Amino acid sequence: MEKYYHITTYGCQMNVHESEKIAGILAGLGYHACESIDDADIVVFNTCCIRENAENHAYGNIGMLKKLKAKKKDMIVAVGGCLTQQIGKAETLHKKFPYVDIIFGTHNLNKLGELILKKQNNKKPVIEIEENEGSVCEEDKPLRTSYPNAWINITYGCNNFCSYCIVPYVRGRERSRRSEDIIAEAKSLIGDGYKEITLLGQNVNSYANGTDDISFPELLQRIADIEGKFRLRFMTSHPKDFSEELAKVIAANDKICNNVHLPVQSGSNAVLKAMNRRYTREDYLKKIEILKKYVPDCAVTTDLIVGFPGESEEDFEDTLSLVREVGFSSAFTFVYSKREGTVAARMENQIPEEVSKDRIMRLVELVNANTREQSLQFVGKTVEILCEDYDEKKNLYLGRSEHGRMAYFKSPTNVVGEFLNVRINSANGVSLLGDIVKD
Ligand code: SAH
Ligand code: SF4
Ligand code: F3S
Repeated sequence: MEKYYHITTYGCQMNVHESEKIAGILAGLGYHACESIDDADIVVFNTCCIRENAENHAYGNIGMLKKLKAKKKDMIVAVGGCLTQQIGKAETLHKKFPYVDIIFGTHNLNKLGELILKKQNNKKPVIEIEENEGSVCEEDKPLRTSYPNAWINITYGCNNFCSYCIVPYVRGRERSRRSEDIIAEAKSLIGDGYKEITLLGQNVNSYANGTDDISFPELLQRIADIEGKFRLRFMTSHPKDFSEELAKVIAANDKICNNVHLPVQSGSNAVLKAMNRRYTREDYLKKIEILKKYVPDCAVTTDLIVGFPGESEEDFEDTLSLVREVGFSSAFTFVYSKREGTVAARMENQIPEEVSKDRIMRLVELVNANTREQSLQFVGKTVEILCEDYDEKKNLYLGRSEHGRMAYFKSPTNVVGEFLNVRINSANGVSLLGDIVKD
C-alpha cells in the first residue's frame, strides 16, 4: 500500500527549502506527497517563530489535527522547525498537543528518518532537540518543488544578534558550506534544467567569513561562470556587509539579477542603534548610492519594522522619509513582535498596539504607492520573463522579470521554465499584465 506525507511550511525561503529536504527524507522512506492532510500517513509541520503570528498559525494548525489523529491513530504527526528549537518550547508543545508523535529541531532535521523509525518502535512521543548546531547538513537530498527556481543554502545560522530577532537563538552560529560543494550543486541543478538559482543565507555577504574559502562576490562570479542560460539570485544581504565588490560583480554579470534585497528595518539612527543593526541611515544610503552607481537599474527591496521599543513619532517619520528617498521597488512591512529571550523583549517603552497599527497602515500606504509607481514604469516595455507557474483561476501564466516584478500573460502551450519576452500592457499594483512577443 502506498504511504503518503503532507508538509506544512510556515517560514522564510530557508524554511521552504528545508521542507524540500524533509520531503527528500520522506521520499527515501517510501512516502509520496499528497494534497490533503486527511490522506496523509505522516504529517509534518515545519514551523517558524520570527513573529508571534507565525507561531500562532502553527499552534492553530497543530490543534486542528487533534480530531483527525483521534480517528487515524497510526498517522504520525511531527513538528519541527524554528519554533521547536526555542528553549523549553518542545516541552510546552508536548504538553499542549500530547498527540504529536515527533518533535525535532532545526539542528537535527537530517535525523528525521531515524526519529520516525524510533517512533514506530516506541509508544511514547519522540522528542529530540539538538542544542548544538554541529556541522551543516550537506548530505540531504531535497525533493525540489520550486522549479524553475532552485534554492541552495550557502550559510546557516546568524551571528548578528539584531536585538529584536530570534533567528540567532534558533539557528545557531553562522557557518558556511564549502564553495566547491555549492558550485557543484549549482552546476548539477543547471544541468538538470533549473533556470534560476537562489543562494540562501541570513547574511550572504559574510559568506566564508573567518575561513580561507572564497568571498561571496567571488562565489557569485564562479556560479555565474557556469555555462547555460539561468538567473542567479541571493538573499539576504545585510547592509553592514554589502560591499562595492559585490555591486561590481552584479554589474559585470548578466546572469546575476539586478535585484537586491537589502533590509533596512528603520530610517531612524536611534532605532537602528537600539536594534543593533550596526549601520546608520547615512551608511545605508551610501550603500544604495554605490549599488546604483554600478547597477543603475537595480531594483532594491527591503524589510521594515514599525513599533520597535522606544520608536517615537519622529523616528517613524524618519522611516517614511527613507522609504521616499530610496524608492524601494517593494518592501515587506512588519509590526514589531516581542520575542522572548531577545534583548529587545527586555526593553522598556514597548509601543502600544494602536500606535503600531496606525504606523503600519501609514507605511504600507506609502510602500504601495511606491510599488505602483514603479510597476507603471514597465508599461509599454518588453521585458524578459522567466515563466514560473500557471494560475488556474486567472487562466494565465506568470513569471518574474529579473527585477523581481511579477507578470501575467496568456499562452496556448505550457511555458513554465521558459524565458519569454513579454510586452507589458498594464500594471496592477505589484504585478504586471502583458502579452508574449514572438521573435
Ligand atoms: N537575516 C535577514 C532577515 C531574516 S528575518 C536579515 O537580517 O535581513 C526577516 C525579517 O523579519 C527581518 O528582516 C525583519 O524585518 C523581520 N523580523 C525579524 N524579527 C522580527 C520581530 N521580532 N518582529 C517583527 N519583525 C521581525
Ligand atoms: Fe535576525 Fe539580524 Fe540575523 Fe537577520 S541579521 S537573521 S534580522 S539577527
Ligand atoms: Fe526562517 Fe522563521 Fe526560522 S523566518 S529562520 S523559519 S524563525
